Amino acid sequence: MKAAVYRRYGPPEVVQIEEVEKPVPKDNELLVRIHATTVAAADWRFRSANPFLIRFMNGLWRPKKIQVLGMEFAGKVESVGTAVTRFAVGDLVFGSTGFKFGAHADYACLPEDGQLAIKPVNMTFEEAAAVLFGGLTALYFLRKADVQPGEEVLVYGASGSVGVFAVQLAKHFGARVTGVSSTTNLELVKSLGADEVVDYTQDDFSRAGPIYDIVFDTVGYSGFSRSLRSLKPGGRYVRVGGSARLWPMLGGMLRGMWTNMTGAAKAVSGVTHGTAEDLSFLKGLIESGRLRTVIDRHYSLDEIAEAHRHAQAGHKKGHVVIVLQQASR
Ligand SMILES: NC(=O)c1ccc[n+]([C@@H]2O[C@H](COP(=O)([O-])OP(=O)(O)OC[C@H]3O[C@@H](n4cnc5c(N)ncnc54)[C@H](OP(=O)(O)O)[C@@H]3O)[C@@H](O)[C@H]2O)c1
Repeated sequence: MKAAVYRRYGPPEVVQIEEVEKPVPKDNELLVRIHATTVAAADWRFRSANPFLIRFMNGLWRPKKIQVLGMEFAGKVESVGTAVTRFAVGDLVFGSTGFKFGAHADYACLPEDGQLAIKPVNMTFEEAAAVLFGGLTALYFLRKADVQPGEEVLVYGASGSVGVFAVQLAKHFGARVTGVSSTTNLELVKSLGADEVVDYTQDDFSRAGPIYDIVFDTVGYSGFSRSLRSLKPGGRYVRVGGSARLWPMLGGMLRGMWTNMTGAAKAVSGVTHGTAEDLSFLKGLIESGRLRTVIDRHYSLDEIAEAHRHAQAGHKKGHVVIVLQQASR
């Protein structure tokens, strides 16, 4: 089968298309023919070993454990292991391989109790592939911040993979949402349901004073001081993304601990833990027309280096999708 393989850390060109062995499902696994996948932040971060800590997870000098990237996908079940009961050959599914990656290939194997579900009936493979990374992350952190109906939520980085879901989910939970993006993305953010938008190239959100219950920063550019200034008493400062450099990263952690200790606000950070139940929750919202994906660009697997370059530039609108099989539903 064809796969996008990287055998050294570096720029997008280190990802090459190769013929590799087709995986064989274990007893509890499914073999999925991948129709669509995405290039998400985790992919370019692992490819470029940014942050450096990734080398401790995936090989100090060169990628060892993970050589085929790709975390989210939609596709068709081609075969199942002998112990699989929840899925059958021919099922159309969407899911995440998590930190095992491997979705940038014609086929991937997943355990049946993994982050996997039947694809929403009202989405194409391309749309469904783009739900997991941003959707599960936004859901996990909004719940961790305990968002409540009527609260004021500022989503910083509202047009990226995590942001487009954070805006829609915060609205679904009954919050009043302000989305922050650059000028070109303001209309997109409004179309996702944001009540207010702030153009970060023209305006500083913190000038409005302490009016937010939650500052939900998907990219790490909102700034600690500005965000704390914008929070009401009892507010929560959620940091999903942030600097990959060691000292700013440590500084952010210490500042978060200090904020929690002094009670100035509740600082929320960490790593997403999505479950199959979370995926079913998102699927329900999609099928009832309350949640959608945003796709910026489509690429073929052969163009994957270009997709990495665009994703890493940091300004994609929603998702960058890789189409492996041309089938719309
Ligand atoms: N903690 C976790 O478990 C977890 C999970 C998933 C992702 N992440 C991290 O979250 C981060 C965001 O991921 P993503 O996939 O949403 O990224 P993305 O799709 O690349 O989106 C980036 C966003 O940042 C905005 N942006 C870029 N430069 C900006 C600036 N100078 N000021 C304000 N906004 C700016 C962009 O908007 P404009 O184009 O309008 O500028 C865009 O909305 C990544 O660092 C990723 O590693 C963490």
